[in-house]
Amino acid sequence: MEEMDGVNESGCSVRRILPEETWAIRASVLWPEKLPDASCAMPVDNGVGVMHFGVVQGDNVVGVGTFMPQQHPDLDGAIGYRLRAMATHPDHRGGGVGTQLIRHAEEALQAAGEGGIWADARKVALGFYAGLGWEVTGPFYTVPKRGPHRLVWTRFGE
Ligand SMILES: CC(C)(COP(=O)(O)OP(=O)(O)OC[C@H]1O[C@@H](n2cnc3c(N)ncnc32)[C@H](O)[C@@H]1OP(=O)(O)O)[C@@H](O)C(=O)NCCC(=O)NCCS
Repeated sequence: MEEMDGVNESGCSVRRILPEETWAIRASVLWPEKLPDASCAMPVDNGVGVMHFGVVQGDNVVGVGTFMPQQHPDLDGAIGYRLRAMATHPDHRGGGVGTQLIRHAEEALQAAGEGGIWADARKVALGFYAGLGWEVTGPFYTVPKRGPHRLVWTRFGE
């Protein structure tokens, strides 16, 4: 699997990162009640097939997303990866970081023979996924402490 793609006009590139390299952005963006330490680790972080991608500018990780093997009961079983804890640092939002990360992960997973990705997406982020061409389907549901979410997904090749 390719580890890094080209550097874009903002000087950002995407690479596989270590689980602990996600902690600072997970804490500052997604889980403000936490410190940027091991409390930001998810039990799945070191699981088989789990991949952490980071958008990197210089020495700084400015966007993160974690992709884990998991099917969704309401979706085609070929959609075998779940996106977790996707976030861009506030200073870098709207500049294409999130798109760069998702497109890289889609290419890497498709090249690895996977069929698609799904996520429980926060209501505030639904427009981001819709803009990427992902499907936004089903009812809203509440995730404790995190508010309303909805299922988003993409099937490669559609
Ligand atoms: C959602 C998030 C990851 C998007 O990252 P980003 O780096 O800002 O995304 P991009 O710059 O690639 O945005 C791509 C497009 O989506 C739009 N977009 C970004 N966030 C959006 C949002 N929350 N709602 C609607 N549209 C959004 C951008 O305006 C841009 O549109 P354009 O192509 O017309 O200019 C980022 O806003 C974020 O970290 N939000 C807080 C945490 C969060 O909600 N994470 C998702 C959990 S499911």
